[in-house]
Amino acid sequence: ATTLAGAAQEKGRYFGTAVAANRLSDSTYVGILNREFDSVTAENEMKIDALEPNQNQFVYTNADRIVNHAINQGKKVRGHTLAWHSQQPGWMQNMSGSTLRNAMLNHVTRVATYYRGKIHSWDVVNEAFADGSSGARRDSNLQRTGNDWIEAAFRAARAADPGAKLCYNDYNTDNWQHAKTQAVYRMVQDFKSRGVPIDCVGFQAHFNSGNPVPNNYHTTLQNFADLGVDVQITELDIEGSGTSQAEQYRGVTQACLAVARCTGITVWGIRDTDSWRASGTPLLFDGGGNKKAAYHAVLAALGGSST
Ligand code: XIL
Repeated sequence: ATTLAGAAQEKGRYFGTAVAANRLSDSTYVGILNREFDSVTAENEMKIDALEPNQNQFVYTNADRIVNHAINQGKKVRGHTLAWHSQQPGWMQNMSGSTLRNAMLNHVTRVATYYRGKIHSWDVVNEAFADGSSGARRDSNLQRTGNDWIEAAFRAARAADPGAKLCYNDYNTDNWQHAKTQAVYRMVQDFKSRGVPIDCVGFQAHFNSGNPVPNNYHTTLQNFADLGVDVQITELDIEGSGTSQAEQYRGVTQACLAVARCTGITVWGIRDTDSWRASGTPLLFDGGGNKKAAYHAVLAALGGSST
């Protein structure tokens, strides 16, 4: 195969990207999107503040532009994200207790119902664990509604869209030795043992020199998969350039391919100039839309070739 998606499909995987609705009028961007990727994640348009700017008033316009583009092009959609401490609308930020819990569950139910049948995987809950060595939950207004808020969100999502895979998604969970990785692992183990509906774990995979791709990445992915969930690399980007960046991208791709239940990789943007990172060159295409060394390394690792 000569494209990322084509090569990934031959390995039984998908290869996706984050998409911003306001770039769908850029023909270079859309050309690469349509050619190279078979899965799409809305970069911001399906977050809580975007979909429910006023309580119980849902605005799907921008999200639908992305979802409809993906479906018309035969691409999968990853839903991102139903419950998160960040990018909450103002009305939700100041809520607490059972009022907030009910508002969160209403949001999960309404949005997952609206998109029922269109979403391959939902990031039901995003970034609920603390950084550092505590292994604790992140303090947030949602966490303060009670420790069971995560499982309540998963149960509501399952009831609303029984066909979607339901994922827990987080960052800095790549290194098996890290306390945060272990804490998420224990939660997934607990959910599986108690029948809480969870199907997948997403690894954001935002890497840079201070947070490099760990040598034990394959171990981490395999250990989670062994709990009986799929694993997905959901927001991949790697700071750097040239051969060293390409080798890290190759390593991540190989780690996923080595785990039968690693079902796909999503990069967090198309060109370096599309990246959420203000500076740097963390993606697979340069600002002109040209394939970088990192692109060729990923394609080769997937068994494809551009010639
Ligand atoms: C980022 C977007 O890329 C930015 O455009 C936005 O300003 C902030 O959020 N983890 C996540 C993503 O789960 O939703 C974040 O996306 C990047 C970190």
